[in-house]
Amino acid sequence: MYLDDPVHALAAVTHAAPYDYYRRLAAGPPLRFDTQLDCYIAAGTAGVQAVLSHSDCRVRPPGMAVPENLAGTSCGTIFAELVRMNEGARHTVPKQVLASALGQVDLVRLHQSTLQIARDHIPGNAVDLHNAMFELPLFAMAGLLGFAPAQWPQLAAWTRDFVACLSPLSNSDQLAGAQAAAAALLQRFTLLLRDTVPGSLLAEIKMAGWQSEPRLLANLIGLLSQTCEATAGLVGNAVLALRTQAGLHARLRSDPGVWPAMLREVSRHDPSIHNTRRYTACPVEIGGVALPPGQMLLVVLASAGHDASVHAEPGRFMLQRPVSPILTYGHGRHACPGQQLAQTMAAACLQSWADVLAAMPLAWCYQPSLNARIPVFMEGQAA
Ligand code: HEM
Repeated sequence: MYLDDPVHALAAVTHAAPYDYYRRLAAGPPLRFDTQLDCYIAAGTAGVQAVLSHSDCRVRPPGMAVPENLAGTSCGTIFAELVRMNEGARHTVPKQVLASALGQVDLVRLHQSTLQIARDHIPGNAVDLHNAMFELPLFAMAGLLGFAPAQWPQLAAWTRDFVACLSPLSNSDQLAGAQAAAAALLQRFTLLLRDTVPGSLLAEIKMAGWQSEPRLLANLIGLLSQTCEATAGLVGNAVLALRTQAGLHARLRSDPGVWPAMLREVSRHDPSIHNTRRYTACPVEIGGVALPPGQMLLVVLASAGHDASVHAEPGRFMLQRPVSPILTYGHGRHACPGQQLAQTMAAACLQSWADVLAAMPLAWCYQPSLNARIPVFMEGQAA
């Protein structure tokens, strides 16, 4: 343990400079018990992949499909149906439909449409930027789903309220806001399901034969909620790369073709999602470590991006790297189907705003979170 280290892996998410710590985690054993957090930690590429690909490491604790505080509520109804929170047939079939529909999105058109939206919403100051990095990807996703532009701001506001139910750090006011937002989103998506726009992402999903309406509704809301904080964090961390990596802005101006590589490298070097969790369904052995049933595992995704056995000089921000999986997007059966969309939307936002951002006075801290690294921008100069 070094003096400036975060006190544990959960504190690393919002620590000012956590990556030396992550590199040491990645160089250690793939699975180790953390006495402070009282759980096992999976770190480095080997540890993360071993846990995420294990069939008996599940996304929910045994016997608790929905967190206790959400049971019987609108948020709980949505949570229970999300592919992200299910296993077996309840996961595999809807996951295939979603992954196939998302895989067919025309990324060139998405890039063009997001560029246009972002140019219409150039942030004038740090507070605008903070709101825009949440809103713009949500606007782009709402547009893909077939919502009219006049509906986007309200949908984005409800989604930002709704995601509070997914964080154990939310207070009772935030949870009440999440419940109201969940009810409103369910209503709005029910209308969209009735009046689906031909050619939209939703039309593709329906054509793929999705039958169960409550499950479909929940997972459509899931597309917005999965976009929300993770993509805001990607945009925010890319803004920081633009400000702190010498020569990067000039390079992107002279060669806009490297924007996709820039967003990919931010996803590895300073990712927005640092952790996920798994729970053993039965006694499990991983890499010689015996785990009892019901054991919680903290999977430190961010440490895999800094694993020197996979990424040469992991601390250096480099646009040209051999392509290898970026584990901030997960791995195995629950891997993110939205990676290309997220990087495309984020690239379009940054491309539209880069010149304005270069001159904007910005200071930042990180939004409290146990999983997501999302800068909060404020007026001022960086320390
Ligand atoms: C920078 C942006 C994003 C990051 C870092 C990210 C990260 C992740 C991660 C780590 C998981 C897996 C969690 C686990 O296995 O425990 C996941 C799942 C998922 N993501 Fe993303 N995501 C991002 C953007 C998006 C977007 C834009 C969408 C929607 C278009 C999306 C849709 C999903 C869905 C539906 C799942 C659940 C997949 C399943 O369980 O089968 N994500 N994401």
